[in-house]
Amino acid sequence: MQIQLQYSCIRMPYCRFPKRRGAIPFLFLLLLLQGLLVLLPIVSSSSPPTSTIVPQKKHFLSCNWKGSLETTNEVDSLVDDLNRMWRHQLTPAQKEAVLLCVHPPYCFLDRVRSKLDSAIEVGSQNVLDATAPSGPLSGPSPNTGSITPKMLKAVGCDWVLLGHSDRRNNLGETDPLIGDKIRQSLDVGDGKDGLKVTLTIGELAWQRRWGRALPTLRKQLNALIQNVHHPDEWDRIVVAYEPVWAVGDGAVPCSPQEAQRVHAALRAFLTKQVGAEAAQKCRFVYTGSVNEDNAAAYAPLQDVQGFVVGRAGLDTTKLRSILVALAEN
Ligand code: PGA
Repeated sequence: MQIQLQYSCIRMPYCRFPKRRGAIPFLFLLLLLQGLLVLLPIVSSSSPPTSTIVPQKKHFLSCNWKGSLETTNEVDSLVDDLNRMWRHQLTPAQKEAVLLCVHPPYCFLDRVRSKLDSAIEVGSQNVLDATAPSGPLSGPSPNTGSITPKMLKAVGCDWVLLGHSDRRNNLGETDPLIGDKIRQSLDVGDGKDGLKVTLTIGELAWQRRWGRALPTLRKQLNALIQNVHHPDEWDRIVVAYEPVWAVGDGAVPCSPQEAQRVHAALRAFLTKQVGAEAAQKCRFVYTGSVNEDNAAAYAPLQDVQGFVVGRAGLDTTKLRSILVALAEN
C-alpha cells in the first residue's frame, strides 16, 4: 500500500500532493529540523568549551604510514630523513616536548626499529588483523596470517594503532572486535609491559548531519572504556579524534573551535564514565588531515595534546614544522 502510494506520487506528483495537505508542512518541518541539526555545532562552536582537567604529559605526534611505502628503498630513505631531522634539525627542548612515533606496515616494522633513532618510538598499524566474522576474538589468534601483540613486542614495537576509519569503514571492523584487540594489546607480557594503544574514533558525514556525531563517538569510546581494566593503563592510551568527513583532498576541514568542542566533550565523557584520573592520564589527539599549514591552529587547543598525521608524516620538512608547532605550546 505504502509502496504503491509512493510510486504513484513519483509518477503523478501534481495529483497526489494537493490532496495530502499534511505532507508539505511536514516536509518543511523536516528540512527545518535538519538545518538546525547541521547548524547546532557551528553555533555552539563560537565559544568552544574547555575541560577542567589539565593534562600533564608531553605532546604526542604519531605518523601513520598506511600503505604509502612499498619498497625497502623507500622505507630506508624515510628512516634516514627521520634520523637526520631528529638528530640535527631539532633542539633538545623540542625533542623533550614531543613523543614522536611512526607506524610502518607490519613487514617493515623490524627493519624500521633496527635503523631508526631509538628515541623515536615504533608502532604497528594493526594487530590480530582478521575481521573475525564469527565475532570478537577469544584469545591469541591461531589463524593463518595473524600477527599477535606478542609478535609486535618481539620486534620492538611500543604502540599499536587501532580503530582507524579505513579499518572500520572499508574493512568492516566493529567496536567489539576493536575492544578485544585493545584488551589483548594491553595485556601482552605481564600486562605492565604491554603495548600502548592509539585508538582512532570518528564520525562520518551523515552521522554529523543528523546530529549523531557525539553519540557515535561515545559508542566508539565505550569499546575502549570497557576494555581498560586498571587505572594505570590509561597512561598507555591515546584517543585520536578523526572527523572522517574532514579528511582527504578537497574535504571541508574541521575548524579548530569544533575540534576543541569535540575533544572537551570526549574528555568530559571519560571523566563521567571512569573518573578524573583516567581523563587526565589519557591523551586526546587530533587527526583530521593535519599538515604544516594548519598545525599551528590546532596545537594550542587546550584539549588537544598532539596529532596523528598521514601524508604529512612522509615528508620530514612538513613533519618538523608540525612537531615544532606542538613543542611551542
Ligand atoms: P592524512 O591521514 O593526515 O593524510 O589526512 C590521516 C589519517 O587518515 O590517519
